[in-house]
Amino acid sequence: MSPAGPARDTRGVIVVATDVTRDYRMSGSIVRALRGVSLSIPEGDFLAITGPSGSGKSTLLHLLGGVDVPTAGNVRFLDRDLGSMSVEARASLRLREVGLVFQRFHLLPMLTALENVELPLAAVGLGPGERRARAEERLVRVDLGDRLDHRPGELSGGQRQRVAIARALANDPAIVLADEPTGELDRSTSRSVLDLFRRLNDDGTTIVVATHDLELAEGARRRLEVVDGRVEA
Ligand SMILES: Nc1ncnc2c1ncn2[C@@H]1O[C@H](COP(=O)(O)OP(=O)(O)OP(=O)(O)O)[C@@H](O)[C@H]1O
Ligand SMILES: [Mg+2]
Repeated sequence: MSPAGPARDTRGVIVVATDVTRDYRMSGSIVRALRGVSLSIPEGDFLAITGPSGSGKSTLLHLLGGVDVPTAGNVRFLDRDLGSMSVEARASLRLREVGLVFQRFHLLPMLTALENVELPLAAVGLGPGERRARAEERLVRVDLGDRLDHRPGELSGGQRQRVAIARALANDPAIVLADEPTGELDRSTSRSVLDLFRRLNDDGTTIVVATHDLELAEGARRRLEVVDGRVEA
């Protein structure tokens, strides 16, 4: 028997959301940010979540990565129910298995690219030598091997985002979740971030992006639209 397609399509499911709702309680009112969303992210997926501003994309991304928990419904991450875990257990799972990338990079300005990528490695207790080697490997992977000692202020916008992506990859997470990763970038720099995501995905990294960037969305393997807290059929 010959193997049936790429291994990443058969290895399993990273995260499953079932009938998830998220209400934000404000003084005197409730914002229903998600109104019953179900979806499954298989290993090796590259999913783009699109939809109007305020439709619930960031909220959904946070629930998929255990940054937040649903008001109702459940999210299973690597077959564990995130809603029934303690805050500490969720934080620890997140540190190891979820790589987060944000619109504004969230790099520490006083640290070099290498030191920024080393942070999540220090948090899981790696020693200095291994930390440095792994951080360097991740930066080489995003084509920044020649910028290890630059601080964020000494990098272009696209390079900063690539450092943030290298940091997200530091602990070999099961999934990378990116919220508007090209929101601050010009067109050609956005394309280079899309190219990087595609290359990482071709190498087996599971990626979910929430985005308004149609070119990024079209470059993903599949696309799902959220409108008013629901996934459009
Ligand atoms: N912490 C919060 N407290 C109260 N309401 C919130 C909170 N976070 C989000 N919301 C509301 O929930 C809804 C969904 O917000 P969300 O940030 O998920 O939208 P989005 O699709 O990511 O929008 P954008 O494209 O502008 O980033 C919005 O109506 C927003 O005002
Ligand atoms: Mg958002």
